[in-house]
Amino acid sequence: MSEATGMQAPPMLLAFDDEWTLAARVAQALGWRVCEVQRHGFPDGETRLRLPPHLPACVALLRGLQQPNAKLTELLLAAAGARELGARRLALVSPYLAYMRQDIAFTPGEVVSQRQLGRLLAAAFECVMTVDPHLHRVTTLDEVVPGRRGVTLSAAPLLGDWVAQQVPGALLVAPDEEAEQWVAAAARGPGLAYLVSHKQRLGDHEVQVSVPAADVSGRAVVLLDDVASTGRTLVDAACTLRVRGAATVDVAVTHGLFVGDALQRLQAAGVRHVWSTDSVPHASNCVSVAPLLAQALAEWAVPPV
Ligand code: R5P
Repeated sequence: MSEATGMQAPPMLLAFDDEWTLAARVAQALGWRVCEVQRHGFPDGETRLRLPPHLPACVALLRGLQQPNAKLTELLLAAAGARELGARRLALVSPYLAYMRQDIAFTPGEVVSQRQLGRLLAAAFECVMTVDPHLHRVTTLDEVVPGRRGVTLSAAPLLGDWVAQQVPGALLVAPDEEAEQWVAAAARGPGLAYLVSHKQRLGDHEVQVSVPAADVSGRAVVLLDDVASTGRTLVDAACTLRVRGAATVDVAVTHGLFVGDALQRLQAAGVRHVWSTDSVPHASNCVSVAPLLAQALAEWAVPPV
């Protein structure tokens, strides 16, 4: 609150340099100021962060959690620092939220990363927003951040519209049952047909995808998933589709992590185009999640009554 005018200062978006493009789009859509969280890396691996010295009461911090281990310390330091500098309501906008898949102890003694990360974030932020989180047994983001507000947005309808423009009449294929929710949402608006495959994961780099027996011969197929990491899921599905006679196979994902040689393997498997949203900065970005994030932030920034 400004003492001179009695007015609340407008909200501010904070972002790191490597996510500046998305942050600038979001801030422009909102008419908010965007400021950089400046980083200095010390020779011993520690980091010094610098925030604007006077923060408004309402601050959103944009930080995607691809390569999460390196970013988590900075994220928690930035949030705590923002509180000391005046922020009273803090939102984390994490377009890609890591550790969502590890939601139970698959073997005795395993740390349930989703639960522990959720608690850390809940201690630091009043609200956590993300896009297409990989939730499975824990079904809502509210459960992940206990006592806080979790906002789940979906880029699937935007990807569906993009695919329909690029490949009219495309057949969408989900590489596994968990992707049915995104493929169904993508297909709905443009009225595309879709199939859902079954996947068996044999290891980090080994999967077997069984595409349903429906006729894909001569069809323009687009594989759609929430995230591509090693790309092996999409590679295996693409190989099967090509063997079955699909005319073309393209790929659309919300979060393009494309670790290691993922893109080369997709190309070798006969994939024509690879499309992703800008939730994770990548050369394949073609659909922006900025309007989704801006709308959610605008709603969050309205002071609670
Ligand atoms: C998990 O089921 C996800 O939806 C993705 O299918 C999976 O994470 C992709 O991983 P990768 O690209 O390593 O096969």
